Amino acid sequence: MDVKTFGVVGSGQMGNGIAQVAATSGLNVIMSDISLDFAKKGLANIEKILSKNVEKGKISAEDKDAILGRVAITEDLKDMAKADFVVEAATEREDLKFKIFQDLDEICGPDAILSTNTSSIPIGRIAAQTKRPEKVIGMHFMNPVPVMKLVEVIRGIATSDETFKLTWDLSEKFGKTPAEAADYPGFIANRILLPMINEAVYCLYHGVGTREDIDTVMKLGMNHPMGPLALADLIGLDTCLAIMETLYEGFKDSKYRPCPLLRKYVEAGWLGRKTKKGFYDY
Ligand code: CAA
Repeated sequence: MDVKTFGVVGSGQMGNGIAQVAATSGLNVIMSDISLDFAKKGLANIEKILSKNVEKGKISAEDKDAILGRVAITEDLKDMAKADFVVEAATEREDLKFKIFQDLDEICGPDAILSTNTSSIPIGRIAAQTKRPEKVIGMHFMNPVPVMKLVEVIRGIATSDETFKLTWDLSEKFGKTPAEAADYPGFIANRILLPMINEAVYCLYHGVGTREDIDTVMKLGMNHPMGPLALADLIGLDTCLAIMETLYEGFKDSKYRPCPLLRKYVEAGWLGRKTKKGFYDY
C-alpha cells in the first residue's frame, strides 16, 4: 500500500511533532483534536518550529509554506476517513485510546492502518477494540519528535508482517531509525527510561540531592543531554506517572512503584513544562 494521506489524532506536543515530520516527508496530513482551538495551537507550534528552521537557513521559506500547506486540521474525527495510515497521539489514558480506536475502526477505510503512539499501553489491548487487529501497531515517537531519531515499532500479538513493514518503512521515510520492540508494558524505551526517572524522583524525595545536583550528576557523569528531572518535566509528570502505573500494574513488581513525590506533584497539577511548573519553574 502506498500511504498518501497520514492522519494524526491529537495535536499536543507529540501529535504536532509527528504531523510536522510526516508533512516534511511529503505526505498530506490531517491532524485532529477535540476542539479546533487545540488543533490551531498544534499547527501554530509547527509553524513556529519551521520559522526557526527558516531563520537558521535549514529550510527555505517556500519549503515552510509547502510543508504547512500539507497539514489540514479538524475537530471532527470523521475526517480520518481520508487517511490511509493513522497515528493516535492522544492523552495517555486507556479509556480514551480505546474509544478513539473503536471510532477509527468505524470511520476509516478497511485497508487503513491504525497505529498508536502510546508510551506503554499494550498494543494487543488497543487492537482488541477493533475488528482489524492485524492492522493495528505501535509507532512510538520520542519527544521532541522533530529532533529525536528513534521510532519504536511495536507489534501486537495479531499485527501482520505487512503492517509491520509498512510502519517500519514509513519511519524511515520520516528520517527516523526504527527499532522493534515486543508488546510488553513500557516496551523497551520506557521500561528502561522511566524507572531511572522514578529513581531520580526518589533521590529528591529521600533528600539524597537537590534537583540541580541530581540532574548534574546524570548530565555530566553519564553524558545525558539533560538530567532526569528536567527530562521528566519535558515528558510531562502525568505521563511519567501513567507509565510507571502501567509498568507496576503490568508486572506486579514493586520495583516499578511510582515515587509518592511524583504522585504529589501530579495531584497538585504540577505537570512540568506544559503547566510551567514541575521539578523546575518555566
Ligand atoms: N521541537 C523542535 N525542535 C527542538 C525542540 C522542540 N521541542 N527542542 C529543541 N529543538 C531543537 C533546537 O531548535 C535545536 O535545533 P538546531 O540544532 O537546529 O539549532 C536542537 O533541537 C538542539 O536544541 P537546543 O540547542 O535548544 O538544546 P539542546 O542541545 O539541549 O537539545 C534536546 C535539546 C534535543 C531536547 C536535548 O536536551 C535532548 O536530547 N534531551 C533528551 C530528550 C529525550 O530524552 N527525549 C526522550 C523522552 S522519552 C519519550 O519521548 C518517550 C516517552 O514515551 C515518554
